[in-house]
Amino acid sequence: MRVIECDSQDQAADLAAREILQALERKPDLVLGLATGSTPIGVYERLARAKREGRADFSRVRTFNLDEYVGLPADHPQSYRTFMRTHLFDHVDIRPSNVHFPPVDGADLAAACADYERQIADCGGIDIQILGIGSNGHIGFNEPTSSLASRTRLKTLTDKTLADNARFYGPGDEQPQLATTMGIATILAARRILLQSFGQKKAHAVRAAVEGPVSSFCPASALQLHPDVTFLLDGDSAALLTMRSYYRRVRENELRLGQR
Ligand code: GLP
Repeated sequence: MRVIECDSQDQAADLAAREILQALERKPDLVLGLATGSTPIGVYERLARAKREGRADFSRVRTFNLDEYVGLPADHPQSYRTFMRTHLFDHVDIRPSNVHFPPVDGADLAAACADYERQIADCGGIDIQILGIGSNGHIGFNEPTSSLASRTRLKTLTDKTLADNARFYGPGDEQPQLATTMGIATILAARRILLQSFGQKKAHAVRAAVEGPVSSFCPASALQLHPDVTFLLDGDSAALLTMRSYYRRVRENELRLGQR
């Protein structure tokens, strides 16, 4: 587990986008796991800029989103399908047929979720998974007490998550309480994981994820089991880490040795 305290959110987005673009050069049919929320927007802006400036070709890229609300039509302003179009898909040349979201309807949702897992496997697995973190430590919509062995499935959102996201809904809007999400085991199967976290409101979750015990009560702590995960933090999110100065020193040494 690598923990990088960045000077700014922009620097975190630069590091994540650079790594994705370098991976894309090596593997034009890269398989990306994508996250929503405010945190990854800077990365998507940089990928869109690379496309605009002719520095990247996404025509063979395959994408799998982490999660989606159940009960919102695809074109609803708060659906994650709308979010991804607004922030990435409308700006790059990813083919619609190469874009995948967890299923949200159909007679047999469990079977459709199992099929989502098969689609990921058929693409050879996820090369790079982008993650944010909920203030309660969730990743995707794997809420506290999610099984560490979970796969794509239906989840009920916690009160904390509903409260965190209530700002996106107007007085007359019905806020969805259900979502389908990749499971924790699905996420851990990605070859590389980049988790970004910004802001003081995530500091407790980040500390529990990085320095707490591996526990389903903080789903992001399961990332300790992954061999190649990097936390890209701003100072506010890193504020409660007890080994903060050590992580800084590790980073200085990495830079001195010319490592990524
Ligand atoms: C939602 C998403 C998560 C995301 C989290 C944090 O709950 N399902 O994938 O990480 O929000 O969102 P933000 O980045 O806006 O803080």
